[in-house]
Amino acid sequence: MLNVGLIGCGRISKNHFEAIAGLPDARCLACCDIIPERAREAAEKYQISRWTAKYEDMLRDPEIDLISICTPSGLHPQHGIQAAQHGKHVISEKPMACRINEADQMIQVCEEAGVRLFVVLQNRLNPSIQLVRRAFEEGRFGRVYMITSNVFWTRPQDYYDMAPWRGTWELDGGAFMNQAAHYVDMVQWFGGPIAEVKSITGTLARNIEAEDTGSAIIRFQNGAIGSINVTMLTYPQNIEGSITILGEKGSVRVGGASLNRIEQWNFADQKDYDEDIDKASTNPSSVYGFGHSGYYRNVIDTLDSRVRPSTGGLEGRKSLYLLEQIYRGQELQRYPANVLRFAK
Ligand SMILES: NC(=O)c1ccc[n+]([C@@H]2O[C@H](COP(=O)([O-])OP(=O)(O)OC[C@H]3O[C@@H](n4cnc5c(N)ncnc54)[C@H](O)[C@@H]3O)[C@@H](O)[C@H]2O)c1
Repeated sequence: MLNVGLIGCGRISKNHFEAIAGLPDARCLACCDIIPERAREAAEKYQISRWTAKYEDMLRDPEIDLISICTPSGLHPQHGIQAAQHGKHVISEKPMACRINEADQMIQVCEEAGVRLFVVLQNRLNPSIQLVRRAFEEGRFGRVYMITSNVFWTRPQDYYDMAPWRGTWELDGGAFMNQAAHYVDMVQWFGGPIAEVKSITGTLARNIEAEDTGSAIIRFQNGAIGSINVTMLTYPQNIEGSITILGEKGSVRVGGASLNRIEQWNFADQKDYDEDIDKASTNPSSVYGFGHSGYYRNVIDTLDSRVRPSTGGLEGRKSLYLLEQIYRGQELQRYPANVLRFAK
């Protein structure tokens, strides 16, 4: 039985509590939030025996094996490092950090402490994406020429105003690093190591520090070209979240609320699992998808040495590396945010 302690009882914590409750060999033993009522309410709702507003209490609890970190992104490294220093395994929500050097510190401390570090990139486990990955690993695309992802979502000002960390450089980042993080990850997972990144981002309409809109162009080391187009200003609601992979002998597009629906599936060859593409398309009601339970299953099986981790620390680092390159690549970065906002 894996005993979990969770820190950060906000919006995404629900997916964690429900995923853990659905597993026979894991339980959430304690939860923590800096706002005590949130920890207490979560404990009541999910029948968690211990709750606290002091992280230290949870870290000192000898029965807890693993800490799940659901706090604002910029706090993941410090919470992960503290957990590792107390001998606990770590699950960090995405992104694992807002800066790569802080991610590296967390990776190093976890290694030194001999604990495992996992980064929640649950969409990789979607049946749709797993099927595309299988085709990719079997070489069915041939040479990959182009990978494109569009994230045309709507996030009104109210969304950013829900919590002071949202849209700040220190604790969140913008549309690329927060809302589109899974799409950025997917593009680099299929594209491989990166040679070059160019990007333009802007804060066009929301009152936040980081970007609400942007485009990035990537050259991968294998020669393929990628692009990611992101906006949180789509009228009147989310209209697209997709990845398209175009290769020599195959073209695939996956869309849906959280990369869960195969929309194009064309290969020069045929395989028996081509019949399964409709079955592999699921229909989650939210952009968070269904993936957290599969993610916890993988974590437990990895800790039992039965499987390899879906996304460990070094794997999570790869998508943070691309995010950092996107932010570095923006030509307008040298202008202050208020100039960007009103730039014609
Ligand atoms: N995997 C996904 O699909 C997915 C989806 C949504 C959010 N996320 C990630 O989850 C993280 C949290 O996002 P959210 O939307 O749940 O945010 P949220 O603001 O709703 O929740 C964060 C919680 O952390 C608490 N907190 C802040 N500082 C703390 C501290 N020092 N100690 C203890 N508690 C503290 C806050 O009080 C709040 O309850 C972010 O990193 C976000 O990127 C991932």
